[in-house]
Amino acid sequence: MRSVGIVGTGSYLPENILTNADLEKFVDTNNEWIISRTGIRERHIAPKDMPVSELCYQAGLRALEDAKITPEEVDLIIVATMTPDYAFPATACLVADRLGAINAAAFDLEAACTGFVFAVATASQFVATGMYKTVLVIGGETMSKILNWDDRSTCILFGDGAGAAVLQPVKEGFGFLSFDLGTDGSGGKLLSQPAGGSKCPASLETVGKNLHTLQMEGREVYKFAVKIMGDVSVKVLEKAGLTKDTVDLFIPHQANTRIVDAAVKRLGISPDKVVVNLDKYGNMSAASIPVTLDEAIKEGRINEGDIIVMVGFGAGLTWGACVLRWTKVGLKQ
Ligand code: ACO
Repeated sequence: MRSVGIVGTGSYLPENILTNADLEKFVDTNNEWIISRTGIRERHIAPKDMPVSELCYQAGLRALEDAKITPEEVDLIIVATMTPDYAFPATACLVADRLGAINAAAFDLEAACTGFVFAVATASQFVATGMYKTVLVIGGETMSKILNWDDRSTCILFGDGAGAAVLQPVKEGFGFLSFDLGTDGSGGKLLSQPAGGSKCPASLETVGKNLHTLQMEGREVYKFAVKIMGDVSVKVLEKAGLTKDTVDLFIPHQANTRIVDAAVKRLGISPDKVVVNLDKYGNMSAASIPVTLDEAIKEGRINEGDIIVMVGFGAGLTWGACVLRWTKVGLKQ
């Protein structure tokens, strides 16, 4: 098995910013409540005519440029999203076409906010076995398009964006050291978009009842998240044969500062090793982790040899984490 790492990253946020003050004008909420309960101050919102494939294309292009790889060199594109352009064709196919990745296979992967971690775990298997050399993984979401803007308990939480990573073989002992993925389908009803699929196809009635929007039992999801984020981080480090003291940077899913704080406490690492940007972006679901990773790299917070832990949770219920020994140097073969 070959060692697999991330040799390039990119991200894209739509220009339009919606602040808590903007929300106060049309939602029965206030800045203080949102900040104290979530830590979110503003989020980016895609224009009505901008689909998620456009965000993913922009992020993917930047990641390829960062890795100095042409679209023709890409063997596989995986897009992690719960807000695809269509049920079919897959968003990954649309992105491959936009990029001109004519030699790539492409498919979507849906694990909600854990999507990026599931996708890099999947992608790395293709590279580790030698089946593919270069895989582009993109986490992208247009959460704004599936929100019920009359539901103050959910519409304040989310934002739009996309982040991408290029995976290639790297030198031995570097790149991904361990993964841990999990699901508990019995919690599916806690967070869902009930209509539009085969269980409840679109009809005037489903539209009238707002069933095409995100529905969430926030308190239950919160309890699950607080426990699982810490547990899975501890487990994935154990799998890598490392201790918490070796962690240089912790990149959690950006849902809520209280959830992040609880995970950091459980893990017992110093808060200065934690990257948090949810104040600027809200919860971007599958895009949160790759956007945060890309920002951390651009801010110079990641150096060769650093131990990075990325951990997510989301609808499904799903959760997942991975440990990387950082290098951006891909192998020639
Ligand atoms: N503004 C003002 N008041 C509000 C708002 C709002 N936006 N939303 C709810 N409230 C009120 C409620 O009506 C309630 O009032 P009441 O006590 O008079 O009934 C009060 O605030 C408390 O509401 P709770 O829902 O109990 O608030 P809580 O402290 O649980 O915080 C929150 C809510 C932020 C949603 C929290 O439960 C949470 O973060 N849950 C996790 C959500 C999450 O991370 N989801 C993403 C999963 S990832 C994925 O796959 C998409």
